[in-house]
Amino acid sequence: MLLKHALAVVTGGGSGIGFAAAERFVSEGARVVISGRNAEKLQRAAQQLGKNALPVVANAAIPDDMRRLYETAVDHFQCDVDVVVANAGVSRQTPVRDTPLEQFSDVLNVNVGGVYATVREALPFLARPASIILVASLAANQGTKNFSAYCASKAAVVSLAKSFAAEFVESDIRVNSISPGVANTPIFDSLGMSEAQLLEWSRVIPMKRPAEPAEIASAILFLASDASRYMTGADLAVDGGMSGISPF
Ligand SMILES: NC(=O)c1ccc[n+]([C@@H]2O[C@H](COP(=O)([O-])OP(=O)(O)OC[C@H]3O[C@@H](n4cnc5c(N)ncnc54)[C@H](OP(=O)(O)O)[C@@H]3O)[C@@H](O)[C@H]2O)c1
Repeated sequence: MLLKHALAVVTGGGSGIGFAAAERFVSEGARVVISGRNAEKLQRAAQQLGKNALPVVANAAIPDDMRRLYETAVDHFQCDVDVVVANAGVSRQTPVRDTPLEQFSDVLNVNVGGVYATVREALPFLARPASIILVASLAANQGTKNFSAYCASKAAVVSLAKSFAAEFVESDIRVNSISPGVANTPIFDSLGMSEAQLLEWSRVIPMKRPAEPAEIASAILFLASDASRYMTGADLAVDGGMSGISPF
């Protein structure tokens, strides 16, 4: 068991990659606290995860919510937090000509401000050693038409992981980011993308298919566990070859 008795907090743990990570953590012996804004979704997810999971409604971009989340986690399980997965994020189409600054900032507020608050508010509650994983994206390094806010936000997440790693290395807190390519999750519903469109995207993936959330969760588990103990400040690409293999 890679995470026996560990306490992990996974933001956005009610669906997709976050839920898959929580599921994997529980199967490796961890207790998990999953958070998000939708209480019903979280409750359903926690039921599926079993008695070692606690759902807490908390908006990742609101520092008071995050402080309450960590207080609740530590109080409920009576131990410090070993692993934080800052996974909560949103994706929106933001074509430059049609997107006022306000809508651009909304994406940045959740994807960057939310990650900042998730990490900053965790600090008083962390065990030593601790591992923090920030969920970035392949989009951090690839300009994508109509997604400038999302791409910029994920580039910031990769950068935050490196600066956090530098700031916490002497405190025995590791910080790494992970960059999935395309994974089959509900995030595409919010973009109004059909499964057929997702399959169309798959044509440019060297492995010719999107990832299953469990395949991203395996890499998150690696970064959470002692197996990656000599890694900090790194970004791990889990993208079916998209960032490393030319399409030509
Ligand atoms: N799927 C992909 O292809 C892909 C690729 C690269 C990176 N990613 C990243 O992976 C992460 C997880 O996304 P996913 O694909 O698994 O999609 P998802 O199922 O939509 O998961 C996103 C989660 O974040 C939560 N969330 C959104 N805003 C929040 C907020 N302000 N506070 C708290 N929770 C919030 C949502 O729950 P509530 O609605 O309940 O708040 C949801 O559970 C995201 O950061 C995404 O950018 C995904």
